[in-house]
Amino acid sequence: MALLFALVLSPFYAVKAQPGRTILDFDKGWRFHLGDLKNAESVSLNDQTWRALDLPHDWSIEGTFSKDNPAKPEGGALPGGLGWYRKTFTVPAADKNKIIYIDFDGVYEKSDVWINGHHLGFRPNGYISFRYELTSYLHFGGKNVIVVKVDNSIQPNSRWYSGSGIYRNVWLVKTQKIAVDHWGSYVTTPKVTTQSADVLISTKIRLKMPVSNVSVSTTIYDAQGKAVATKNLDNVNLSDSVSTANQTLTVKTPTLWSIEKPYLYKAVTKITQGKTLLDTYTTPIGIRYFEFDADKGFILNGKPVKILGVCDHHDLGSLGSAINTRALERQLQILKEMGCNGIRTSHNPPAPELLDLCDKMGFIVMDEAFDCWEKGKVDYDYHLYFKQWHKRDLEDQILRDRNHPSVFIWSIGNEIPQQADTAALRIAPELARIVHSLDQTRPITTANDRPDTTNQIVKSGAIDLIGFNYHHQFYEKFHTTFPGKKFIGTETTSALETRGYYEMPSDSIRRWPIAWDKPFSHPKNLGNVVSAYDNVSAPWGSLHEETWKLMKKHDYLSGMYIWTGFDYLGEPTPYSWPSRSSYFGIIDLAGFPKDVYYMYQSEWTDKPVLHIFPHWNWQPGKTVDIWAYYNHADEVELFLNGKSLGVKKKQGEDLHVMWRIPFEPGTLKAVSRLNGKVVLTQTINTAGKAAKIELIADRSNIKADGKDLSFVTVRILDKDGNLVPDAENRVNFKINGQGFIASVDNGDPVSHDPFKASYRKAFHGLALAIIQAKEKAGVVNLTAESDGLAGATLVIRTK
Ligand code: GAL
Repeated sequence: MALLFALVLSPFYAVKAQPGRTILDFDKGWRFHLGDLKNAESVSLNDQTWRALDLPHDWSIEGTFSKDNPAKPEGGALPGGLGWYRKTFTVPAADKNKIIYIDFDGVYEKSDVWINGHHLGFRPNGYISFRYELTSYLHFGGKNVIVVKVDNSIQPNSRWYSGSGIYRNVWLVKTQKIAVDHWGSYVTTPKVTTQSADVLISTKIRLKMPVSNVSVSTTIYDAQGKAVATKNLDNVNLSDSVSTANQTLTVKTPTLWSIEKPYLYKAVTKITQGKTLLDTYTTPIGIRYFEFDADKGFILNGKPVKILGVCDHHDLGSLGSAINTRALERQLQILKEMGCNGIRTSHNPPAPELLDLCDKMGFIVMDEAFDCWEKGKVDYDYHLYFKQWHKRDLEDQILRDRNHPSVFIWSIGNEIPQQADTAALRIAPELARIVHSLDQTRPITTANDRPDTTNQIVKSGAIDLIGFNYHHQFYEKFHTTFPGKKFIGTETTSALETRGYYEMPSDSIRRWPIAWDKPFSHPKNLGNVVSAYDNVSAPWGSLHEETWKLMKKHDYLSGMYIWTGFDYLGEPTPYSWPSRSSYFGIIDLAGFPKDVYYMYQSEWTDKPVLHIFPHWNWQPGKTVDIWAYYNHADEVELFLNGKSLGVKKKQGEDLHVMWRIPFEPGTLKAVSRLNGKVVLTQTINTAGKAAKIELIADRSNIKADGKDLSFVTVRILDKDGNLVPDAENRVNFKINGQGFIASVDNGDPVSHDPFKASYRKAFHGLALAIIQAKEKAGVVNLTAESDGLAGATLVIRTK
């Protein structure tokens, strides 16, 4: 009964309680008002008419697409504006001797925060995590009001979709008066062998009262929870407001963190005074060693590893920028399946959950700070704040992220306009000093679109890795241009595709230096589409195959981050309105792979791959190019209606084979063989009329935690179960039970239908409905209907 009482009264629940410290999920029970209001920070304001919502929240994604929105299509064509959030909460009288903080993982952008009418501070940077102390302004045992003003009204302030609001998680942290400081631990592994690893833990302890007789003990636990090393410091002399305790522990026969086996230990530090436990602080640890070598590239735990990475922006497609751990995890799983092993957090600090997942799943992260320094790229971006805020923001990023084993590279800037400017000789070394003062275990780079010797950032000597954005034509001259230097492909490719759309001939390549606006004006005015054969790229970029062929050839090319893993909102290059999202992704905005995904999978994974495309619905007689990506085989034979169209074998550097044939309806069948033995087969049938809907959930059992998601793929099929490749049927969803529709999508960069809706048109036969769990265990029933089609139902369980 007592437990039930506590649960009902509490507006939030503890998720990370550790003896001495409580970390409360503070996402629930906020009120929101869109638009400016006078005195909205005032405690006495009646906010009961405001909208009730839970965080994380992105108000832009709820809006209507328009080219007139100040973000413009380049920023996603959704509204910005100014919004207010308020939350009324109680803090028990029993907490009166504690120190209370509020932690924001990210607010876009320009946030002001008040507690009980007192202004706590302003943070312009929309991607940075920050903390305020609340203690002296709180009413213990009474009501408190926290108010957050978010100003995303002055635009354009971003070259991509930012989202608006308190779009990441918020935490209420309670500690004793002696406690580990914010981001207060720093773990390094200076000596690692197969026999043992030295783990150095430096712990900052914040004092709010004089103390003596304090002990600091740290225990390292392995992934099974077994203690493997312990160190105790007794009678620690804590004299200043912040003191540091250094401990070195030895882990015998350590299991190393790697891409294949991202093994995590954790360090648990306890602060005690006499018999009283004052604080418990947990730091995840990955034991690994690495280097970048000018000749051999990236070497992890003594073995050369090519970084096979992608760049991604922070939006989660139709969910907008509102962070959701499962949505992030799904993105990473799709990438991992492709063989991807790296993520660049372009062009800003990510949500902390992304790094937690990369630690657990084994990704090589390039953690990036800025898209500009003192000179901006759009009128109102961070350059307005750089001078005043860069030190604080960069320090906070490094302090927050430096314990993540997945972070291997710090990037202090993307395509900084001042590459050409001697100001870089001043700024780059200053930024490098800031980073190195907090972490010397990782190299620093910048993503340069001027990767040549006139680049002032390179000249400044501040960067450890020469980061190339594009310019693959110069990869092979790297060591002539930069003798003895280390290479990283910070950004590559920028090829373009619309999933499911194909133009012939497929080998008419559109790329630099050929005028590149031609292939995009579709003769039948089908809207803004780009053929999904890998034959179109931005003039500054390359086709997918081109960069990869070079990258795989040379060891000194340590790896690359392809622009981009997923399509993202905004930057609809080469178009603008009516397009509102990008075409660069290997995977579309809804999470459906484009064909080139399988090129990477055939090259980057060990699993057998055979992928042929396009679909098999064309005008009779039309000449169609059929491509096959394959591996683990020495040939592929193609059959049309049982008749062989010939055997093809990749020659030399080829990454695909192609047949050019006149279309005839029926069945296309590909067979891959190794030494004459069949490895895989794939068939594509000419689809008939759309007849029915199929629903496939990525997971049909999800957690009843109010946050978990099931991604439901909607497929439009003919009566025989073939995907109808040009189907555009509008599908209406009905849902009841313990879940709701978080958003819908179909991957079409031109659609202006809302993402928060209970209907979606199919795009090239597919659509997506994202189902979010409520907080009660039970059943979710999803029904999909469409005029003239047999409907479908799906059951998802929440536990
Ligand atoms: C790069 C830039 C990215 C993106 C990309 C598109 O120059 O760093 O943010 O704009 O081009 O190709």
